[in-house]
Amino acid sequence: MRIDILTLLPRLLDGPFADSILERAQENKLCEIRIHNIRDYSTNKHKQADDYQFGGGAGMVMTIQPIDDLISKLKGEREYDEIIYLTPDGVQLNQSICNQFSLKKNIMLLCGHYKGVDQRVRDHFITREISIGDYVLSGGELAAAVLVDSVVRLIPGVMNDETSALTDSFQDGLLAPPVYTRPAEYKGWKVPDILQNGNFKLIEEWRMDEAMKKTKDRRPDLLSNEDL
Ligand code: 6GU
Repeated sequence: MRIDILTLLPRLLDGPFADSILERAQENKLCEIRIHNIRDYSTNKHKQADDYQFGGGAGMVMTIQPIDDLISKLKGEREYDEIIYLTPDGVQLNQSICNQFSLKKNIMLLCGHYKGVDQRVRDHFITREISIGDYVLSGGELAAAVLVDSVVRLIPGVMNDETSALTDSFQDGLLAPPVYTRPAEYKGWKVPDILQNGNFKLIEEWRMDEAMKKTKDRRPDLLSNEDL
């Protein structure tokens, strides 16, 4: 999978992809992440990439020309399955959308800033608009990092133990059950006996029970009515 990220603040994305699972996924050629500075494509003599909004009002708007030139250049090099705009007024990201994106070959992510981009960019280039939740970030970069992380870890071969993405919270529609590791007792706080008796059928039942209890308590909206 190839992911191209278009941003006015490329340095914000220096960190998130340089470590751990995302680093290994790139080393193993399971994904390729490219960061592009939109400002480099401005034909304006000051490399300006934003301007005042028509109609007046506070805040700058990202201009169409450098974004058009950059998107057009990339589209000339390969076909993109999705061109995604990260914006607080987009559709809220969830595990099902992450699963869909993880099956794509080439995706482009456009990070909004200031008051966002000229609406004509959204109308003519963007195929999906995604938000990561009901709060406002200063730009789409951190949201793009969240999207990339949640998608790349689902690409087959990226996780060490391929089954482990399948036991995540949300992957089966439930929150994940508690987990424990050694020591079996710490300061008098004990690991549940059932996890130590080697009966995998009982352990599976316990985990399903705990997942169900936690989901009912914290996220009843995830359960269909018959489970409540
Ligand atoms: Cl994608 N962008 C910004 N600026 N704020 C957000 C967001 C995105 N998702 C939630 N808040």
